[in-house]
Amino acid sequence: MLQGKKFILGISGGIAAYKCAQLTRLLVKEGAEVQVIMTKLAKQFITPLTMATLSKRPILVEFFDPENGAWNSHVDSGLWADAMIVAPATANTMGKMANGIADNLLITTYLSARCPVFVAPTMDLDMYQHPSTQRNMDTLRSYGNHLIEPNAGELASGLIGKGRMAEPEEIVSQLKEFFVRREKQDLTGKNILVTAGPTHEKIDPVRFIGNYSSGKMGYALAEELASRGARVTLVSGPAQIKTCHPNIERIDVVSAEEMSYESRSRFSQMNAAIMCAAVADYTPLVKANEKIKRKEDELSVKLKATTDIAASLGKDKSDKQVLVGFALETQDAMANAQKKLEKKNLDFIVLNSLKDEGAGFNSDTNKITIINKHNKVKEFALKSKTDVAVDVVDELVECFFNIGG
Ligand code: CTP
Repeated sequence: MLQGKKFILGISGGIAAYKCAQLTRLLVKEGAEVQVIMTKLAKQFITPLTMATLSKRPILVEFFDPENGAWNSHVDSGLWADAMIVAPATANTMGKMANGIADNLLITTYLSARCPVFVAPTMDLDMYQHPSTQRNMDTLRSYGNHLIEPNAGELASGLIGKGRMAEPEEIVSQLKEFFVRREKQDLTGKNILVTAGPTHEKIDPVRFIGNYSSGKMGYALAEELASRGARVTLVSGPAQIKTCHPNIERIDVVSAEEMSYESRSRFSQMNAAIMCAAVADYTPLVKANEKIKRKEDELSVKLKATTDIAASLGKDKSDKQVLVGFALETQDAMANAQKKLEKKNLDFIVLNSLKDEGAGFNSDTNKITIINKHNKVKEFALKSKTDVAVDVVDELVECFFNIGG
């Protein structure tokens, strides 16, 4: 699986740097190419000679070779690699990665890399738990980086707790899993509808009723589905996000009514629909043609209910179609999500609670619980919306498998 893959291994200065010798050996044994970049401090923990011998390439530390001035291009390295692994990632290095402090070759390469980045933190348990470290890790997740959780156990300090860098075998297995997933086209031939973003309900020519949805989750889903071979119809409310995958057909709408029309009229041709949009439940009964002028102290705008798009697709759904909903709750999250699952005839519902920090609208991360129609509950950790999309799409694939689709 890793045969011919090109990796940049960025080693920062932590005692776990010794594990990079084994990590490099394993990668090379799999047929991968490894370019090692070390920080100056990392050289104190493991010698450049060891790493150069195992990787079969000179290691890089400086921006240029002081002997002859040859430039070590971080841009070229960043473009060359299929993935970058930062291991061990110290608190200092993660802080720099999270904040763009580009004072060494490892960080400039990270900032230039277009490939997926895996980060394997290592540090003492108190440093690991410190809010600044946790915040930096959340930021890195929100950039779409893949955090490889450290293990708990005896640390170099003698303290016991979480902070041991994942073992080389675990890192290699996560890399394999990533590439297997990326390269398998398990949704080829499937047509999938995704609704995303908010809707805007016109009050008058200059005002609307809207919500804080950014569309990020729905767009991440569309990208993940498309990259796994599905033909995606993305019905999107107003959102400032670009889509570039050729498998995505994007239909821009503004109101709940338009979203409903575009979704319902296409549903019969779909194998699945994921209802990720934050659709307005009410719209003004009358949309004023002229700007409403300020008059009395109070103003009432009469609203009428919009179509519940998910519920209407749930009514039309055949046994061979999969319908997925989202629920954003602020109270009684589980009970409310279960009610929506039943009422809308969904195959599963993705619950995010606004009580969870880092979850919900506008953030780059999300923390979800998936409840399926058999009431099986799966809880997931806080992840980037890109990684959450992988979990949701995996669940969808399982549904197709269960219905023989
Ligand atoms: N939904 C929809 N059309 C609507 C309202 C909601 O398709 N008019 C979909 C959402 O895209 C989501 C699911 O229904 O997948 C649940 O949406 P949510 O707003 O959480 O629930 P509501 O049914 O609107 O209930 P409430 O607002 O009372 O919580």
